Amino acid sequence: MKTKNYSNKGLAKDFDFDHFIFGKTPTDHMLVMEYSEGKWGAAEIAPFGPLNLSPFTLGLHYGQLVFEGIKAFRSVSGQVSIFRPRTHLERMNHSLERMCMPTIDVEVVLAGLKELVATDQKWVPLREKNDIALYIRPLVVATEARLGVKISSEYKLLIMCTPIRKYYTKPLKVKLERQFVRAAQGGVGFVKCAGNYGGAFYPTFLAQQQGFDQVIWTDASTHTYLEESGTMNIAIYFDGKLITPIGGDSVLKGVTLDSVLQLAVDHNVEVEQRPIAYTELLEYLKGRRRVEIFGVGTVAVVAPISHIEIEGIEYTSYVGGDGFMYQLESWLSDIRLGRTNDDHNWNYYVD
Ligand code: COI
Repeated sequence: MKTKNYSNKGLAKDFDFDHFIFGKTPTDHMLVMEYSEGKWGAAEIAPFGPLNLSPFTLGLHYGQLVFEGIKAFRSVSGQVSIFRPRTHLERMNHSLERMCMPTIDVEVVLAGLKELVATDQKWVPLREKNDIALYIRPLVVATEARLGVKISSEYKLLIMCTPIRKYYTKPLKVKLERQFVRAAQGGVGFVKCAGNYGGAFYPTFLAQQQGFDQVIWTDASTHTYLEESGTMNIAIYFDGKLITPIGGDSVLKGVTLDSVLQLAVDHNVEVEQRPIAYTELLEYLKGRRRVEIFGVGTVAVVAPISHIEIEGIEYTSYVGGDGFMYQLESWLSDIRLGRTNDDHNWNYYVD
């Protein structure tokens, strides 16, 4: 397919899509929807701006706050599409349920989201390199103004957007975390709630002070099984197989992970989703064969890991340009940018 040259014509003025810091610049609008008296009101597209909240706002005190991360792309033919928005909104409903918050009507919110992205589509450039996209952040927060420890009776759904580019620009150095815990069975690790991120900051900060980019969490009860990496799921490619941990309810069910696993299956690559003991990974790393380890997430997309520290010893994993992880990344990008057939109907077009 021939690539249309969009350059910066028709795009947000005064914004340099080739050089920017993620998460600092909002687009012009946001979606707002409010819940009170047992029901959600209508979705409204409003100018992006500050919120007027009481300091008593329940969500600020007791953590009833869930969010999602979705991306929109401009395809090579110029159309804008959102990647798997229903799957993300359905996952948000699982998060809402677990946090005792009211679920949303996915189709209603999807219609609002479509309108929001169509309204702000000058913020979605076509850039075939660096994964430049529009990052969409839906968030639901408890807004009842009351200090008592209780389930809120009022909520606000906000959807805001910001441009995003390749998040990790070089292979990562990670540490296998066997002391601190992100999530335990029976807890909230599988949902996208704010506390999962806040609680991970301190161990990640300590690891960063030791020169690591991220930690890989292990299971809370035995610290033996690999879980996820906080900002992304993890996967291993070894011996022609793509392997990724099953974390039960302590690992976020990644939409990007689900997509790359499906693409691997589509291309006849063997996929295993099962518990992975770190000792199994150690065996691969100590052997003389090639092992690829990488993160997978909406923001991270596919993030190669070049070094992993396990029990104080640093091991290297393969990040050479012919790695399978780059193949996965390019299959995904071909679909999102409309360079190949979207056999699974993952692209949701807004125009
Ligand atoms: C995402 O990949 O969408 C995330 O939510 C990860 C993180 C930046 C919060």
